[in-house]
Amino acid sequence: MYRLFFHLVFKRMDAERAHHLAFRWIRLAVRIPVLRTFLAAALAPRHKELRTEALGLRMHGPFGLAAGFDKNAVAVDGMAMLGFDHVEIGTVTGEPQPGNPKKRLFRLVADRALINRMGFNNDGSAIVAERLRTRVPVLRTVVGVNIGKTKVVPEAEAAADYVKSTERLARHADYLVVNVSSPNTPGLRNLQATEALRPLLGAVREAADRAVPERRVPLLVKIAPDLADEDVDAVADLAVELGLDGIIATNTTIAREGLGLASDPALTAETGGLSGAPLKERSLAVLRRLYARVGDRLTLIGVGGVENAEDAWQRILAGATLVQGYSAFIYQGPCYARAVHKGLAARLAASPYATLAEAVGADTRKAAR
Ligand SMILES: Cc1cc2nc3c(=O)[nH]c(=O)nc-3n(C[C@H](O)[C@H](O)[C@H](O)COP(=O)(O)O)c2cc1C
Repeated sequence: MYRLFFHLVFKRMDAERAHHLAFRWIRLAVRIPVLRTFLAAALAPRHKELRTEALGLRMHGPFGLAAGFDKNAVAVDGMAMLGFDHVEIGTVTGEPQPGNPKKRLFRLVADRALINRMGFNNDGSAIVAERLRTRVPVLRTVVGVNIGKTKVVPEAEAAADYVKSTERLARHADYLVVNVSSPNTPGLRNLQATEALRPLLGAVREAADRAVPERRVPLLVKIAPDLADEDVDAVADLAVELGLDGIIATNTTIAREGLGLASDPALTAETGGLSGAPLKERSLAVLRRLYARVGDRLTLIGVGGVENAEDAWQRILAGATLVQGYSAFIYQGPCYARAVHKGLAARLAASPYATLAEAVGADTRKAAR
């Protein structure tokens, strides 16, 4: 039904307009108690065996919404209502900014992919922090807060900008993510180099501890799929050395591999980060590499081209404790998260593993033997 609607309505609209329209409906639906209760009951993960403990948090299921969909934390309950068990808001930057000029979001329907160069359009850390502070949750969900650099802040002053966001937002975050991997802020991905990343993550860790002395806010870093394998290893080693809690792999790619011939070449040539199906293979490979390097010492979150339960299951077997999706939600609609959780429960039941935790990394461990 959604797919028909997508082809008849959303596909004919500008991608960002369609996003805003869908977003408005989600925010409206969650305000209607009967509808909210009905949808949440129908779509939320309810398989006992999927209960997950990660980052010191208890969750109903391992599947959540990746950053970028709810940049300003205005639809956390709405996304929880649609069955995402955790919602990562952001990327939020120190200061508010409009992002890149439109058009900046493109659908490659035949490839089940998106290209975006949004450029961190968001309300800024002060407003988003106030929104989270005054939020009255109507549905239980884990809220991750993803932070990034304000565009006009020079690379050399990046740490201060991240620290500003941390001071404002850490208190409201179940976990905090340092995003150094979006391709749409010039120079941002240079912060993935260990010489730059070490002081940045150190400063954010200290700021989080100062801002929230009574609780250790879990801290993760989100990396790009375009890192060379040795750089993936270097970030993994650094994360362990600094006592980080986890790594999110991966953000969108600047590569254009994996695209079929069906998408309009003018679209595939658009500048920006590619997400969705063509990203699947590389994201999985990065995750596998990370798990082989760090094992259980870090919590890994697998994201990139997760279209269905089988993809999510493969991420778990590769080493992910949590899994996220974004692009497939655009193409599949409101039943996406439910389908992933339901299929995961079936896969776990048919597997030799008693719990999801036992399945985490099983394939990567086997391959290493
Ligand atoms: C339109 C769009 C905006 C995004 N914005 C952000 C963002 O602000 N911060 C971030 O860390 N990732 C952002 N992402 C990346 C996603 O969180 C995710 O890592 C990526 O899309 C791969 O997952 P997918 O293939 O399931 O979409 C964005 C992705 C899309 C498609």
